[in-house]
Amino acid sequence: MKNRIYLNSDWEFSPSFDEKFLSPKSKTKFEKVNLPHSVAVTPFNNFDESLYQKISFYKKTFATEKSWKGKKILLTVEGAAHKAEIFVNGIFASSHGCGYTSFTVDITEFLAAEGKQNTLAVKLDSRESLNVPPFGYVIDYMTYGGIYRDVYLEIKNEIFIQDVFVKTKANHFETEITLNDYAENFSILQTVEKCDSKNPVAQINTGVPSKKILTSSSATPVFFWSVEQPVLYNLITQLVDGKGKIADEKIVRFGFREVKFDESGFYLNGKKIKLRGLNRHQSFPYVGYAMPKNIQKDDAEIFKFQLGVNYVRTSHYPQSQHFIDRCDELGILVFTEFPGWQHIGDSEWKNQAKENLREMILQYRNHPSIFMWGVRINESRDDDEFYSETNRIARELDSTRPTGGVRCIKNSSLLEDVYTYNDFSHKGKNAGVAQKNEITSSRGGYLVTEHNGHMFPTKSFDTEERRTEHAIRHATVLDGAAEAEFCGGSSGWCAFDYNTHKEFGSGDRICYHGVMDMFRNPKIASAVYRCQGERKDVGDVLEVNSSMNIGEYNGGVLGDLWIFTNAESVKLFINDVFIKEFFASSSPFKNLKCGPIPVDDTVGNRLADEEKIPEKFCGELKEIFAEIKKSFGGKLPLKTEASIKKLSLLRVASRKKIFELYGKYTGNWGGSAAVYKFEAYRNGRIVKTLVKSMCRNASLKISCMRPQLVEDESYDVTEFHVFAADENSNVQPFCQEAFLAEAEGCIEIIGPKAVSLKGGMAGVYVKSCGKAGKGILKITDWNGNETKITVPVKIKKI
Ligand code: GAL
Repeated sequence: MKNRIYLNSDWEFSPSFDEKFLSPKSKTKFEKVNLPHSVAVTPFNNFDESLYQKISFYKKTFATEKSWKGKKILLTVEGAAHKAEIFVNGIFASSHGCGYTSFTVDITEFLAAEGKQNTLAVKLDSRESLNVPPFGYVIDYMTYGGIYRDVYLEIKNEIFIQDVFVKTKANHFETEITLNDYAENFSILQTVEKCDSKNPVAQINTGVPSKKILTSSSATPVFFWSVEQPVLYNLITQLVDGKGKIADEKIVRFGFREVKFDESGFYLNGKKIKLRGLNRHQSFPYVGYAMPKNIQKDDAEIFKFQLGVNYVRTSHYPQSQHFIDRCDELGILVFTEFPGWQHIGDSEWKNQAKENLREMILQYRNHPSIFMWGVRINESRDDDEFYSETNRIARELDSTRPTGGVRCIKNSSLLEDVYTYNDFSHKGKNAGVAQKNEITSSRGGYLVTEHNGHMFPTKSFDTEERRTEHAIRHATVLDGAAEAEFCGGSSGWCAFDYNTHKEFGSGDRICYHGVMDMFRNPKIASAVYRCQGERKDVGDVLEVNSSMNIGEYNGGVLGDLWIFTNAESVKLFINDVFIKEFFASSSPFKNLKCGPIPVDDTVGNRLADEEKIPEKFCGELKEIFAEIKKSFGGKLPLKTEASIKKLSLLRVASRKKIFELYGKYTGNWGGSAAVYKFEAYRNGRIVKTLVKSMCRNASLKISCMRPQLVEDESYDVTEFHVFAADENSNVQPFCQEAFLAEAEGCIEIIGPKAVSLKGGMAGVYVKSCGKAGKGILKITDWNGNETKITVPVKIKKI
């Protein structure tokens, strides 16, 4: 008998609700849908929340199986936004008022006789007028609606294991086992084994004195869970009846690890770690929150392998278990908080918030990746009574993790262990982070939980200058946080652009705050993060902020050039002539492992070699060029004028010649297009090369992290990244052409078939539709060129 039966397929959905739908006799037929599901498919931008402000209806039938006789049948809904009422065979069974935590209902008593059909119905209220968090005020993100995570049944014996919580200290562990009920003559058998081997490292055999059982032991040998080596263990807890039969079994995956946050920073297993991260909203284009397992996991992979971060904040609510599972596996630390945004409601609302907090901790506390609980409504005002309670709840349910609570106010009342602060003080020229003593007099830990974001919204199709400044601002804050001893680290706002309400964003309902766009395509700023990652994770990084087109800049004067690399040095060649080698040590971001490197010379030795200018004057000439560049054709500083005069008198070069040389070597106005080649070196060997030259023709390129679909608990989705690139594979940020995406065979496309590039980039989400075999994704570019990609689809029996 299968203990868990997924109910993700073959639902019926109505975008409106009528009491009569609840009758099991109702014959009304609705649209067929599968979970995860969104109550509305939205456009990419320019829409509002009215699309999902509704009470909708979901219905699913299933038969009562013979093997269920004498068993308890538990229904779990992992995520239904935002208030769900559950009816079984027309009878109200339960309701749940949080769109971001799961809930379980014992539906045994409502089920039909063996072999008969049951109707499971959900009345789902997705309106923002509900008196539950995060609602009650404006919110800077769309809250969507739908049964957007997995739904399943569990078949249990009369007495079963409701929960197991495991806490570790070095190789010692303690567990709290909760049974649904107390019964005599049962015993507990526990085994700990490494996930990738079956050798037990600890075993416990104990009696059952009450509903709650506490056990403890030590495991040997033990490998600690760390960011570099996230070793995972399974704790197998078996409930054994008087006859020695296993009545229930629960497997909890965990890691041996200890976290500590104090005045001197954050520690994992006693080792100090600077948290370097980004905030994540769980939304995607078109379907909002409704994305299945593998694409949730892909996001974690993006954080690890493309953004190189060691930490994610799940702003502003608990997110998919699949995402957090993958963070456990990849060694990404997670700060997770209960739902809310700035607003604190009345006592009914607060009670719901406290319930949400309890659910969050109970549902997520075995994840080794989670290092702290957020127990304040993000950026809300002080409320000592409320927050004393939330802190108490968190500490009672989990004594192993510190509490934090994200605020944007200075000197707020600190009831938590860590002062978690949204520091938006960086404005481009000043220090990256505020000093702790300007923010709080607390002696506890301190973490910057947001920075940048609305202070510098940046689109992937913004000017090169703005996209560069976006990157440098992120680098400045990362550098400031790295330098500040008092600071445990930072999480930038944010990883991905997201759809939002009218009070926020750029008027098209997008907050362009991500270091990646909504499709998870990189902006320049993402390279700042990527460079700081471990090389084994992120590979060799070499990016340059500029396409080297002077016409993109005011006055035809190319802006600052930056190299983003994790190599030791980068050599620049212009038209194959060596210009200069730039070393990692010349980055002004001294506290970053691999800070951006300024390209401060594009002239090199060419004045001496090609123009026969005596070496001793070349430096002075380059300084003159730099001033001419800065002046935008206007007045030059007196010192520069004096230099020009001097070089002219010494017959090194006349004023006219100096300006000609400037035009040839720096300005390049009307000159022949140069080819810039960057070679990144490590241990004397080239590890990566990048070429920037005039784009003659942009063509579509397509890439995919996971080009096959595997359907198991639910349908599967993967994303194809589509971008326009020049002959040297550089994305063309101003190519906004459209392409057509069509599906054949066993796949479907989510969202529109005609997609325009945004900043030269876009994405196509492809999903499985219950059939194994071959799917073909056909992409037709704006010239009519077709690319066909085969997408294999497997169906895995679970
Ligand atoms: C913060 C808020 C985030 C987001 C961000 C934009 O104040 O916590 O949710 O709105 O600003 O920068």
